[in-house]
Amino acid sequence: MLKGKKILIVGASRGIGEAIAYAYAKEGADLVLAGRNLETLQPVAETCRAMGVAAYTIEWDVADVKRADEVMAKAAELMGDLHVVLHNAGVIDREKFLSVREEEWDRIFAVNVKGAYFCCQAAANFYLSAHENADFKGKIIVISSECGHQPHISPYGISKWSVHGLCNGLAKALFKRGVVLQNIAPGPVTTEMMLWEPGKSDAYNSAFGRMAHPEEIADLAVFLATDKSNRIAGMPIYINGGLNT
Ligand SMILES: NC(=O)c1ccc[n+]([C@@H]2O[C@H](COP(=O)([O-])OP(=O)(O)OC[C@H]3O[C@@H](n4cnc5c(N)ncnc54)[C@H](OP(=O)(O)O)[C@@H]3O)[C@@H](O)[C@H]2O)c1
Repeated sequence: MLKGKKILIVGASRGIGEAIAYAYAKEGADLVLAGRNLETLQPVAETCRAMGVAAYTIEWDVADVKRADEVMAKAAELMGDLHVVLHNAGVIDREKFLSVREEEWDRIFAVNVKGAYFCCQAAANFYLSAHENADFKGKIIVISSECGHQPHISPYGISKWSVHGLCNGLAKALFKRGVVLQNIAPGPVTTEMMLWEPGKSDAYNSAFGRMAHPEEIADLAVFLATDKSNRIAGMPIYINGGLNT
């Protein structure tokens, strides 16, 4: 489904991003995997290469937004082009409202909001200049969260409200110009972000009695990366078992 596609995944070392990398590789896409730690990205890239696609790594802390344009250019150079940028990088806080500190707020917003904003900006600038003459110039997929529409008091939850606002606004602004922005909003998923405590259960009040698996998010990410989904833009697509919508 994705043969010929050149895709950059930001935040691909584990969890949802890792599952998306394997799903994209299985469908034949060439990949650049970005994240803060090359050591954790390398084995993911190796597994993708073993599936027969090209897979490269770039060390990038997405909060270092000054490097965003450079990362887009490097990804395109490595793969020969760039068609999809999937922004998955995200961090969560675990403190209660009454004890959240300013540094924690800044840490979350630096990655989840500032990182997403400038990653999208760099991707859009790349597409608008590199594919200037094409009708469809490129795609941006953002992993937000169902938190982005729920009452929330954590920096994480509020950061995802910002991401939803960004996706709605940006999709509208970019669609006319040939850049499609899509937003996947998962409910709880069985990754380190949710199951960080030893022995923490994946039980969840959903139809299947459990949280989603990263591969279930990846299945949607595959469809969204194809050209068959090019009319879908902006509004969050929830994968949460129908809860909290
Ligand atoms: N798990 C859930 O229940 C759930 C639900 C809704 C939405 N989400 C969202 O889905 C996305 C992925 O979450 P996950 O559950 O897979 O979390 P995870 O297992 O903690 O993985 C997070 C990924 O983001 C990368 N990352 C974190 N900070 C980064 C930074 N500053 N620069 C570049 N990469 C960074 C991490 O790599 P390094 O640490 O190696 O850099 C890792 O690959 C996040 O945006 C999260 O908010 C998760």
